[in-house]
Amino acid sequence: MTTRKGIVLAGGTGTRLYPITLGLSKQLLPVYDKPMIYYPLSVLMLTGIRDIALITTPQDQAQFQAMLGDGTQWGLSFTYIVQPAPEGLAQAYVLARDFLAGGPSAMVLGDNIFFGHGLPEILAEADARPTGATVFGYHVADPERYGVVAFDADGRARAIVEKPAVPPSSYAVTGLYFLDGSAPDRAAGIRPSARGELEIATLLEMYLADGLLEVQRIGRGYAWLDTGTHGSLLDAGNFVRTLAERQGMQIGSPDEIAFQQGWIDADALRARAEAFGKTGYGGYLMSLLAP
Ligand code: DAU
Repeated sequence: MTTRKGIVLAGGTGTRLYPITLGLSKQLLPVYDKPMIYYPLSVLMLTGIRDIALITTPQDQAQFQAMLGDGTQWGLSFTYIVQPAPEGLAQAYVLARDFLAGGPSAMVLGDNIFFGHGLPEILAEADARPTGATVFGYHVADPERYGVVAFDADGRARAIVEKPAVPPSSYAVTGLYFLDGSAPDRAAGIRPSARGELEIATLLEMYLADGLLEVQRIGRGYAWLDTGTHGSLLDAGNFVRTLAERQGMQIGSPDEIAFQQGWIDADALRARAEAFGKTGYGGYLMSLLAP
């Protein structure tokens, strides 16, 4: 069992999905049959993390609480933290300082979807590193839209560049960050960038400068899905639907993972399944109880 705590960063303005997100948080939008936030939350749960902070905008917090509660339905503990303004990903560590209490963390962006056989092993490896930072590099066709890793001749990371006009590689840094207990102190030392944000790239480069940044490349057997545009959001939903219907298995179900991890018992899972009535999701949860 890990002592690492989790953070789901689910604030931001969602302007790229207007008008859908005018009165609704992006991370609560559906990705096929589940709210978007179920998927990144599942990644933390697969890591074995049960103590999780959910960072939201002030105006959206009540909706997240209505949707996710206090976490006990999954054997989790949720702490809600408000980010007053979207002042950057690294600000999450400043806001979560008390919650983290000096310990290591895994932060996932509330709009990032990961899928792949072997994901739990990759997560376990990152979790097992007690000090430093681990991030994941994923080959993409459009690196200029992301944080990008620059590698030296030996294939080691030498810089992290946010949305470079000329990308130094095709490896984007995914929105999943395993950082040690020094993250809040480091983040507190970051000055806002030209766009007014505490940049995650700056925080990662602090670890890099100390020789403490591990960039783990994840290969083509994995899906890291984008939800940043109307088209990619629909594509992500179709991807989930295709796999779910073909395999008869769910991607990103906190209920299933909680049951597998032994954090909830059969009665608790049955209660959830019954609450969801005749939906496919409810039927799926019920099927997990069959011998
Ligand atoms: O998805 C991975 C990418 O996420 C990384 O490759 C980039 O390095 C990283 O900067 C980030 O890029 P985005 O362009 O996706 O950043 P965005 O500003 O859209 O924020 C990502 C998510 O975090 C989004 O769902 C909103 C949320 N957010 C963002 C900011 C700036 C917050 O909750 N608070 C914030 O202050």
